[in-house]
Amino acid sequence: MLEMIPLPYNLDALEPFYNRQTLDIHYHILYKGYVDNTNKTEEKLAKARLENNFENIKCLERDLSFYGSGAILHQLFFENMGFPTPSMPDNHLMEQITKDFGSFNRFQSQFTEAAKAVEASGWCLLVWVPTFQKLEILQCEKHQNLTLWGCIPLLVLDMWEHSYFLQYQANRADYITAFKNIINWKVVNKRFEKIS
Ligand SMILES: [Fe+2]
Repeated sequence: MLEMIPLPYNLDALEPFYNRQTLDIHYHILYKGYVDNTNKTEEKLAKARLENNFENIKCLERDLSFYGSGAILHQLFFENMGFPTPSMPDNHLMEQITKDFGSFNRFQSQFTEAAKAVEASGWCLLVWVPTFQKLEILQCEKHQNLTLWGCIPLLVLDMWEHSYFLQYQANRADYITAFKNIINWKVVNKRFEKIS
């Protein structure tokens, strides 16, 4: 079961930049809601598996992604605040920021503009992309776009039409069944071994 992280500072610790009332509501009501709803969704998924009844699977996967990503991002957000702090990246991170963004000022400019330009509800993130070996700044709409932040893909199936339509037309179920016969679990095993 997912648990809320304890708030790493007092409710008034971020004053005047982030006031007590805002933090109180954000942590105790909104963040709690994401954690509670992630757990509720996991329970519903367990029940669906037990009963082999997946009629609500689309809704449940969406809920898992939305609430789960909401929980993860709020945890990261509360943890990456604090005041007063010696608030600069250390040498190691600064070197990477300078390498990838040109300078700390340029990084800050891009982060600010990207955050300002987030459409509707969303987030702005500094991320490390292992495949690129590079820091990037990303916007995120809602919390998820159907992923869980920080997850590492082990097995993927392309469900875009281009990947099956020529052979299976609209029979996506047949394509999925066929895929199960050609999964190279040795590769998946290796991926899992690396990170577990
Ligand atoms: Fe929030």
